[in-house]
Amino acid sequence: MRFVLYCRPGFEKDCVAEAHDQFASLGWDGYPEIHGEHGIVSYNGTPFDPENPRSSEIPYAANFIFTRHILEQATVVKELPAADRATKLAEALLKSTKFRNFRELVLEFPDTNEGRALANFCKKFHPAMGNALKRSGFTLDRGNHNAPAVHVCFLDYENAVMGLSWKKRSSPWRSGIPRLKFPEEAPSRSTLKLDEAFLTLLTEEERNERLQGGGTAVDLGASPGGWTYQLLERSFFVTAVDNGKMAESLMATGMLDHKSEDAFKFKPKTPVDLLVCDMVEKPQRVIELVARWFKEQQCTWAVINLKLPMKKRFAEVEACQLAFWELSGLTEDKFEIRCKQLYHDRDEVTLVLIPKPKKAKR
Ligand SMILES: C[S@@+](CC[C@H](N)C(=O)[O-])C[C@H]1O[C@@H](n2cnc3c(N)ncnc32)[C@H](O)[C@@H]1O
Repeated sequence: MRFVLYCRPGFEKDCVAEAHDQFASLGWDGYPEIHGEHGIVSYNGTPFDPENPRSSEIPYAANFIFTRHILEQATVVKELPAADRATKLAEALLKSTKFRNFRELVLEFPDTNEGRALANFCKKFHPAMGNALKRSGFTLDRGNHNAPAVHVCFLDYENAVMGLSWKKRSSPWRSGIPRLKFPEEAPSRSTLKLDEAFLTLLTEEERNERLQGGGTAVDLGASPGGWTYQLLERSFFVTAVDNGKMAESLMATGMLDHKSEDAFKFKPKTPVDLLVCDMVEKPQRVIELVARWFKEQQCTWAVINLKLPMKKRFAEVEACQLAFWELSGLTEDKFEIRCKQLYHDRDEVTLVLIPKPKKAKR
């Protein structure tokens, strides 16, 4: 089966490296195809190991670091005729899937400047595509949440990828992108990273349990205060550690203590609930520091951002996760690392380090 994976444009190689790893762990063999620098990658997979109890599983977008969204039973359609793109696309879909009912038709475009220029075209093309699907024998079954959505993602006017997504496995956001509103009072755009991490890497139960009643937090590398802003909004008492200044508006809340110190030397007087860290530093150094906080039981959970200026980013993130397990003394039966390149992350990924939920699943 062919899958189409959406990632941040420019991160196609990391997406492929991770896809090999993820599919292999489910007993799938496969080869990738990168469709230019659009953030769109195909993975042609075959389950090769029937003995693997997980071989019938299909991966969830939420479990990937560099993949935002996954299309299943996908196909690539090239040389679309300008006079009638829709019929060729519908015919291609007839061949790539046996499903004939769909709950929604989604027209998409790459998350690039050239891609966004296709937005208007997609809007206008929607009725023609819907009609072509009907003519080819597909039925729109709008209320049926078990039916797949049909996605057509135009790479340009002549080439597209298309496939299906199911609600239970795919991202809840269009093209896997949560669009968050920038709060005007926040001192930096980085604020959206922490907001998105809370939204996408925590369960609803965890948000209720860990974010609603306030608590204590330390923000390492906090200046000018975009992350601290999110914590104060959720009623945390925050200690911000950074030689840089914190925004006056945040200091005025009375809920913030600013320490002009080196984060690698700072030690809290008493343990805190939450540690957050967004320092521009080598990922391995950050992981060592954060693992020490857990080893010394100075925090219960953490949200950290790792900067990835190097080429082999997937390998680096894997190495950091391994180092965390080794250095923190924590184990996977009780604790979890959730890692994602968020939409608001650039050359970086965000990790939530948290005790395993007792029952709820994401
Ligand atoms: C990307 S900025 C943080 C932005 C912040 N999270 C926000 O939302 O406004 C990185 C910060 O890390 C701080 N930093 C880097 N190394 C540090 C260290 N060793 N100790 C304390 N702060 C450090 C820098 O001064 C800089 O303010």
